[in-house]
Amino acid sequence: MSQGNRAPFVVAHRGASAALPEHTLAAYELALEEGADGVECDVRLTRDGHLVCVHDRTVDRTSSGTGLVSEMTLEELRALDFGGDGEPVPVLTLSELIELVLDWRSRPTKLFIETKHPVRYGGLVENKLLAELQRFGIATPASADHSRAVVMSFAALAVWRIRRAAPLLPTVLLGESSRYLGGGAATTVGATAVGPSVKTLRDHPDLVDKAAAAGRATYCWTVDDPADVALCSDLGVNWIATNHPGRTKAMLSS
Ligand code: G3P
Ligand code: CA
Repeated sequence: MSQGNRAPFVVAHRGASAALPEHTLAAYELALEEGADGVECDVRLTRDGHLVCVHDRTVDRTSSGTGLVSEMTLEELRALDFGGDGEPVPVLTLSELIELVLDWRSRPTKLFIETKHPVRYGGLVENKLLAELQRFGIATPASADHSRAVVMSFAALAVWRIRRAAPLLPTVLLGESSRYLGGGAATTVGATAVGPSVKTLRDHPDLVDKAAAAGRATYCWTVDDPADVALCSDLGVNWIATNHPGRTKAMLSS
């Protein structure tokens, strides 16, 4: 669905991650304070079955430790500092992030959750994610528009698993190939939206109208350059993921 004259909704990519360390509670709080309409996170499973918000396979880049997330327990992860400097900052679990989003005082915001693949636990990630969404009562929304959660993946199979198990949850098939996103893959897996990178969208702006013609929304990532924000707005992109939510909201409302 192209949104006509409506400005794109702004999704804070890994929180307000240009200003604060990614995937930390503080980065998400700042994003919400800055007016983000939604927040994005990546999730991975720990060895003992907890979903944590970490982008990479390892914790090396974003924490004081080293090693694979999938080989560490939550307790081991909690011993690491994800903040960089100052007071130690703990790893953020998905349940902590869901609580923040659902408790946010001023307005309803959406949580865009990306499952990473390939991973050693395969489809268990989606099973655990659905169980977590059910526990919070947000796995069966009245409609896609009213859903507080959106599940995304580059892996078509992951999107299909969600679609099959929770048909009312909106989903985004992420990708960098216009042929893939503009072709039949999104239809095959029942994705409610396609998620091109901003580079893909620059090269193939027709993707937005193609998606809309098929009844799908468009989610574009990662839109940090003001010229790209304007492009997405002109094209009628529904959601843009950015590391600068405050600046982007200001741009779109001016
Ligand atoms: O929002 C989608 C985008 O986050 C995908 O790329 O590598 O930042 O997870 P990545
Ligand atoms: Ca992501």
